[in-house]
Amino acid sequence: MKNPFYYGGVIGEEYFCNRKNEIKELKKDILNGLNILIYAPRRFGKTSLVLHTVSQLKKERNFQYIFIDLLGTSSTEEFINEYFNAIARSLEGSVEKVIDFFKNVLKIKPSIKVIFDESGKTRFQLEFSKADIQITLKEVLDIPLKYAKKGKKICVIFDEFQEIETLNIENRLRTQIQHHSNNLSYIFMGSKKSILQKMFSDKSRAFYRSVKHFQIKEISKKDWIEFIKDKFEKTDKKIKKEYIEKILSITKGFPYYTQQFAYELWELTDKEVNNEVFERALKLVIEREEDLFAVEWDNLTPNQRKVLKLIIEKNGQHLYDEGLLSKYEIKIGSLRKTLTILLNKDIIDKTENRYYFQDPLFEYWLRQRVY
Ligand SMILES: Nc1ncnc2c1ncn2[C@@H]1O[C@H](COP(=O)(O)OP(=O)(O)O)[C@@H](O)[C@H]1O
Ligand SMILES: [Mg+2]
Repeated sequence: MKNPFYYGGVIGEEYFCNRKNEIKELKKDILNGLNILIYAPRRFGKTSLVLHTVSQLKKERNFQYIFIDLLGTSSTEEFINEYFNAIARSLEGSVEKVIDFFKNVLKIKPSIKVIFDESGKTRFQLEFSKADIQITLKEVLDIPLKYAKKGKKICVIFDEFQEIETLNIENRLRTQIQHHSNNLSYIFMGSKKSILQKMFSDKSRAFYRSVKHFQIKEISKKDWIEFIKDKFEKTDKKIKKEYIEKILSITKGFPYYTQQFAYELWELTDKEVNNEVFERALKLVIEREEDLFAVEWDNLTPNQRKVLKLIIEKNGQHLYDEGLLSKYEIKIGSLRKTLTILLNKDIIDKTENRYYFQDPLFEYWLRQRVY
């Protein structure tokens, strides 16, 4: 029987756990033509959530989305071509139709080459001279607008948007899309909170205050319990609620790790989960990540390590405790500075009154080591 859990990249319908409220709110925002910012750690389920939402919208109404992942895009030319291809994919037509469409909407007349990549998929290559980069960029950025003219609602999704910082097109992009109509909604998402936050909340930046910040949280305990129990039962295996709670106490409901844990546990379980298989699954999950954690730990300065230990010991609260500061031999000033550095490195994050690790498994791994 096939494992009912999955971890890795974007997930299909059958592996998707809840997020009903997020989907509902996101749909409303998209249809209202808002521009939306979503940041959350890697493997938190951002891409899955957004693609899930827009594919539902597509089934429900006159709607289309354009999805572009900026990871690995390293120049303006590449950006133009990636964007162009993202639009082409959304047109879902034959190569001839797609080319016709572009010839109709583009004032500049670049040559459009059709190539086939390794997997046999069609890709378009836009060829233009260096002198025409800016004008081509401008025109390509305006294509979705033309597309949205006939009343169709369009959502343009930029994944791993923080990469735009290195491309030097932030201003152009902002200028170009700020006049786009209500039929167009843009989603900017990514994993680097430190970079994205600056981009959208720094007065001197082009995207300053131009978006709604959409929050996504961990999937709730209740939803996971139902989801995991149900998947086990449907495949004729059993898991007691207390084991699911044990998983969640380690993964904190972080989507990737929770799926990974459930996946390994299901694999190892014959009929019913017991202590022995639970421990084996836990070991597997940790083993898979531990090399990375060790490297991450090695790359930290002594002060940064001290502060992480302090966060673990104090559960992220009341860190400025004098007794502890002297135990860890760290001064208040450097504690403050180090916390900022760790926030900027996206290793920790904070709520109003508590610091916590962005990666719950890294915390768990460290906790085992420290105590
Ligand atoms: N709604 C969800 N329900 C269950 N598992 C999820 C959900 N969203 C994400 N996951 C798990 O997290 C993994 C990473 O999801 P992904 O959307 O690629 O995250 P991100 O874009 O934030 O890096 C998925 O392969 C899946 O295992
Ligand atoms: Mg993603």
